[in-house]
Amino acid sequence: MTKILKNPGAKEIKSAAKAILSGKLVVFPTETVYGLGASALNPGAVRKIYKVKGRPADNPMIVHIAKRSDLFVLARNVPERAIDLAKRFWPGPLTMVLKKSELVPKEVTAGLDTVAIRMPANRIALELIRQSCPIAAPSANRSGKPSPTALEHVLEDLKDVDIIIDGGKSKIGLESTVLDVTKNKVLRPGKITPQQLKAGIQKSSRVAKSPGMKYRHYAPKAKIVITRKSDIKNLIEKYKKQGKRVGLMSKNYKYNTDTNIIVGNEKQFAKNLYTNLRKFDRKNIDIVIVEGIAEKGLGLAIMNRLKKASSKS
Ligand code: TXA
Ligand code: MG
Repeated sequence: MTKILKNPGAKEIKSAAKAILSGKLVVFPTETVYGLGASALNPGAVRKIYKVKGRPADNPMIVHIAKRSDLFVLARNVPERAIDLAKRFWPGPLTMVLKKSELVPKEVTAGLDTVAIRMPANRIALELIRQSCPIAAPSANRSGKPSPTALEHVLEDLKDVDIIIDGGKSKIGLESTVLDVTKNKVLRPGKITPQQLKAGIQKSSRVAKSPGMKYRHYAPKAKIVITRKSDIKNLIEKYKKQGKRVGLMSKNYKYNTDTNIIVGNEKQFAKNLYTNLRKFDRKNIDIVIVEGIAEKGLGLAIMNRLKKASSKS
């Protein structure tokens, strides 16, 4: 039986923290997306995460911390730059990949010599970690589905978790920026942009760098077609003629389709993206036409997720 904690106070968070310390799985809110957490120091508990998510065993997890000094507990050879970035962006949607310390079990890092660490900007998440220990957590979706940004997405996807903490809709809606500090490379774009991380960082190349990047991600059942505004109408007509159920996601273009979603500004686009992708699936849409946006700022992360959702592998 899964226990759902809504608007938890100190007492409820404490009980969830106890569950973490006894090796149980707790879904918790963060400012990006919901995480499926277990004690990062308990290999058996971490193994359960792979099972519940259907996650490939070679895809490592992020360890969530509540105080910056835990960087030095979980990582070794921490460079000045990481300390500086932690000061500037934590708590917040930045994950840093660093050389791991001996304390981190291989189950968390999928056997890698590095560990991904982040301090989330969410009251519940921080309190949960403070009351327990560093928490290993991937996004709380079934492997291959879009990350959950609301309680109902988690309920749709996951069975066999002990506790789910409802923290309302995720503020940002896209997963954190992953920066490999050891290679000075952004592995996954997010709200914190390469520009903000400052000079010297290369954008992720097409090569699978972060182990998770090679898997199909963020993907709805419907086929996603990204296009320019001027081509929307023709594409919709083409697919309609083929008898497909067509959906449209665009900044301000309206057209007669099964489901027509106006995405609003970048911030709203990001926040509602995964909810919208799940909506198309519920309505059994075959093809979703998406008007692409400029790949800068948050637009870089939005387009990254859309391109992943549109690729077949
Ligand atoms: O916003 C987020 O990052 C959310 C919340 C829950 O914190 N978490 C999340 O976790 O998106 P997940 O597991 O879905 O994505 C983590 C990404 C994966 O692509 C994984 O391969 C990569 O980080 N990663 C984890 N550890 C790594 C490591 N040691 N080296 C390189 N990449 C790593
Ligand atoms: Mg994920």
